[in-house]
Amino acid sequence: MATGRGIPEHVMTNHDFAAIGIDTSHEWIVERSGIVERHIAKEGDTTASMAATAARAAMDRAGVHPGQLDAIVLSTASPDRLLPATAVDLQADLGATRAAAFDIGAACSGWLYGMTIAEGMIASGVAETILVVGSEKMSAIVDWQDRATCVLFGDGAGAAILQRARGGKGILAAFMRSDGQLADLLYRPAGGATIPMCDAVLADRSHLVRMAGREVFKHAVRSMSEAADRALDAARMTGADIDVLIPHQANVRIIEATAKHSNIAMDKVYVNVDRYGNTSSASIPIALDEAVEKGVIHDGSTVLLVAFGAGFTWASMIIRF
Ligand code: ACO
Repeated sequence: MATGRGIPEHVMTNHDFAAIGIDTSHEWIVERSGIVERHIAKEGDTTASMAATAARAAMDRAGVHPGQLDAIVLSTASPDRLLPATAVDLQADLGATRAAAFDIGAACSGWLYGMTIAEGMIASGVAETILVVGSEKMSAIVDWQDRATCVLFGDGAGAAILQRARGGKGILAAFMRSDGQLADLLYRPAGGATIPMCDAVLADRSHLVRMAGREVFKHAVRSMSEAADRALDAARMTGADIDVLIPHQANVRIIEATAKHSNIAMDKVYVNVDRYGNTSSASIPIALDEAVEKGVIHDGSTVLLVAFGAGFTWASMIIRF
C-alpha cells in the first residue's frame, strides 16, 4: 500500500479568526481541541484538485500509472457538485480511462469505509488496483459565523493505492458501524432534495454544518473505543500488539481517550490535528502519509486506524505494512 496527500498552501492560524470577526481565542481553541492552525483552500483548490494531488503522490510512490487503476473510491462530505460524483472529476483529471469511479458519503469514517469496500473488490477479483481517496473542502460547508464549528475544521486530501497484499501484510481486520438515529447531532439540515436550496435556506444558513459539540464528543469517545476493540478482537490482538495508532484527527481529547481505552501509550499515537484541524474523511490518510514519510510507520509496522463521523458512522482497520 502506498500513500500520498494534497494539502492547500494557505495556512490559517487561531489568531486569524479575529480578523474575520469571530469572537474566539487561541487559548480556547487549543484547550478544547488541540488545534493551532489549519490549511484552507483558496481560489482554484477544489475537492477534486486536492484529491488529484494526493492521488498522484500515492501513484508515484506505488509505481502505478492512471491506466492501471480499476477503480477510484472517493470519500467526501464536501463534494464539488451534488451530481455527478467528485470521483469522476478526479477520474477525468487523472486520465484513469479503465477505472470505475464513485463517491462514498460516510463523513469522517468514509475513507475507512472506502478501504474496506476496496479490499472486498480486490478479494472478489473485481479489481486489482484501486485508488482510495479522502478529500474535503470543509471550509466551503462550515458556517463561518458559528464560532463553535468554524474553528474546528480544515481542508485537504489523503490517498492510498490498494493492491493485493502478500506475506502476512495488508489489511488484517476491519469494522464498520452506523447509527442514523443520531443524524441530527451533526448535519447539514437543507440544500439536498428534501429541502432544496432557496432564499430561505440561504438566509437561515441551514445548508451549512450544524453540530451539537458536547453530544458529538461523548459519542465519538464511546464509538471510537468500541471500534478499536472490535478490530483488535477480530485480529486477535491487544493494544500491546499495535505499533502505531492513527485515530481520526478531530480533537486531541478524543484521541487521548481512545488511546487510553485501548492501553496504547500516547508516544505510539500519531497526532497532527494541531496543524490541520479536522479534515473529516481526509484526516486518517493525511496522517498515515505523514507517518510513513517520517518513518514512524515502516516495513512490518502494525497500525490501528479508528474513525468516527456524522451519521453517526464509525469504523476501524488494522493494517500490517
Ligand atoms: N471560542 C470561544 N468560546 C467558544 C467557542 C469558540 N470558538 N465555541 C464555543 N464557545 C463557548 C460556548 O459559547 C460556550 O459558552 P457558554 O458556556 O457561555 O454558553 C462555551 O464555549 C462552552 O461551549 P461547549 O460547546 O460546551 O464547549 P465544549 O467544552 O463542549 O467544547 C467542542 C466544544 C470543542 C466543540 C467540543 O464539544 C468537541 O470537541 N466536540 C466534538 C466535536 C468533534 O470532534 N466533532 C467532529 C467529530 S465527527 C467529525 O469529525 C465530522
